[in-house]
Amino acid sequence: MHKKGILLAGGAGTRLYPLTQIVCKQLLPIYDKPMICYPLATLMLGGLREILIISTPKDLPMLKDYLGDGSHLGVRIEYAEQPKPEGIAQAFLIGADFLGESGASLILGDNIFYGKLDFYRAALAVKYGASIFGYQVRDPQRYGVVEFGPDGRAVSLEEKPQVPKSHFAVPGLYVYDERVVEFCRSLKPSARGELEITELNCLYLERNELQVKLLTRGMAWLDTGTQSSLLEAGNYIATIEQRQGLKIACLEEVAFRVGFIDEPQLERLINRLPKGEYRDYLRLVSDEGRNPVRPEAEE
Ligand code: G1P
Repeated sequence: MHKKGILLAGGAGTRLYPLTQIVCKQLLPIYDKPMICYPLATLMLGGLREILIISTPKDLPMLKDYLGDGSHLGVRIEYAEQPKPEGIAQAFLIGADFLGESGASLILGDNIFYGKLDFYRAALAVKYGASIFGYQVRDPQRYGVVEFGPDGRAVSLEEKPQVPKSHFAVPGLYVYDERVVEFCRSLKPSARGELEITELNCLYLERNELQVKLLTRGMAWLDTGTQSSLLEAGNYIATIEQRQGLKIACLEEVAFRVGFIDEPQLERLINRLPKGEYRDYLRLVSDEGRNPVRPEAEE
């Protein structure tokens, strides 16, 4: 079934004040590029080409300025406002027209995934139901938490429980079939006044239509919600990039390697870039494209 991508870049970023006083959280740097590049690259590496970016009325113009209609990356980007922070699941109500009869994959604008994305492409290929993931963390109480039964199937999901039933957090990357909008319409706001993504996932779980796949420890899932996690994520990206001489979530490179743009299109993009390290890097990518030694995408 056809699926479209939604990237939710909402929130006032209050925990990151004063960094977020002027600049939108999702445009803050993670080492050498804006944060939003990382979740956007994940959607693109999943093969999604129709993407809705949702953000606050204040931040949306900045994101539009940066990414435009996406045509330079071979994708189609639309934009929509979330006037108030009324929950992650609200993204599907805001995106109802955009989605039409399609299924959806939602990624949160502050979630960074690095590693082999086979698990994601497999989830996108599933026709019926929903797929979420589990990832071991030291501090599960900060997240949605999934509990597994003896047979390895998910038995419960809780949002930021004080006493977590497992160490498995649910990352901000979700895949749903085309019923997602209808299911969201039946959700009621939680005590904190939000349409909770965990409640939506519980609806699929109750119907036995939720797959929860554990990510291997070789995957990196980083979040960027606090000053220190922002710095840690930047240091992680810098470490890998400096070691390999390859960039993570360089959108032009991703678009080229997944085949959304061809070599002449990449050349045109490079020629528009200011002189500097980023342009030099893409020049190498383009030269290698003529003589590929590494045919795979980013992972
Ligand atoms: C949200 C979700 C939570 C999920 C987390 C992942 O939390 O509510 O279930 O585990 O994203 O980043 P928030 O970012 O709103 O604290």
